[in-house]
Amino acid sequence: MFNREHTDIKDKELIFRDLLSTGRSTMLALGKESDPICEFALSTAAGLEKTPRLLESRFLYDARGSEIYENICAQPEYYLTRTEASMLDRFAAQISRITGSVTLLELGSGNSAKMDSLFREFLEQSSRIRYLPVDVSSSALRQAGKDIRRKFPDVHVIGIHSTYEKMFPLLSCFSPSLILFLGSTIGNLDEQETIRFFSRMTRQMEDGDFFLLGIDLVKDPALLEAAYNDAAGVTREFTRNLFVRMNRELGSGIDLETVEHEAKYNPDLRRIEIAARFDRGQQIRISPLGRTFSVRSGEKIRTEISRKFVLDEMPPFLSAFGLELREVFTDEKKWFGLLLLQKTRPSTLKPIYDA
Ligand code: TRP
Repeated sequence: MFNREHTDIKDKELIFRDLLSTGRSTMLALGKESDPICEFALSTAAGLEKTPRLLESRFLYDARGSEIYENICAQPEYYLTRTEASMLDRFAAQISRITGSVTLLELGSGNSAKMDSLFREFLEQSSRIRYLPVDVSSSALRQAGKDIRRKFPDVHVIGIHSTYEKMFPLLSCFSPSLILFLGSTIGNLDEQETIRFFSRMTRQMEDGDFFLLGIDLVKDPALLEAAYNDAAGVTREFTRNLFVRMNRELGSGIDLETVEHEAKYNPDLRRIEIAARFDRGQQIRISPLGRTFSVRSGEKIRTEISRKFVLDEMPPFLSAFGLELREVFTDEKKWFGLLLLQKTRPSTLKPIYDA
């Protein structure tokens, strides 16, 4: 596995060569990325200028953050990963039967740990399959690639180090495909971002391509809040790690002892709101920009939202983007949903929401 930094998004030929000729597993970085520290600095400053203040959640996933997130997934209170993984075990055969042989493309793949049962089922259909994990964490991608090659030598892995947005223009290259968006990561986008996500993605999908969406469902708020306030304090460490990263990469000089993790369910907006609460006032420096922001004692800076969904509301919403429901899967407790959809026609929302 090797790394090619800064591959031009339009350089599809390069990707095709890797895909079709060698069949060798590889990793690509998409987009002419500006300086990553500069990008972090600009995004952080922009977030601190907003009222209320918020930070872009993709920066939670540095190497350490991705590691902590994996640990969150293993916590007893965090039912999402366990529930979804067991559903995938149970329904993988049905999913592969419906989609037929396709390229598997996973957005926000992390450690790719949930893919095993799908790999097994798809390898029943074809002797060799192609898997493209897309993630902002290069360390997670590299580790996932190694693990998969060891366990499934017949899975051809092409890791894509990229945000979703940068990946969208390439989607049609991999058709026929099954795009997977698991772990209720869709819930980390607000309503507007969700519309933009689906409108941009579906515009690049070919008719017949499939989409598998994992969503966490509305349930007892106590269960929801427990999942984001695990007793072992792993989620707290995850929130704090963003400020550790700011200190390291942006020279922010934050006293980490003043940063407290807070996760509360907002029933009106049906979402968990995760924030860092500052127990004492702080000066946050963004050294690459030469700027300093004052944070008041008691002030909260939002680091993430996690929206919760009502199963029946999703198919009509997604249908507006040309995604037709093929199958709904859920668990006995109806805590989590998996929707298998297929792109069948152009989005009807395009003219209105095209951003
Ligand atoms: N997609 C996950 C979720 O919404 C991400 C997540 C889990 C998360 N725990 C978190 C994000 C804690 C920030 C903080 O459940």
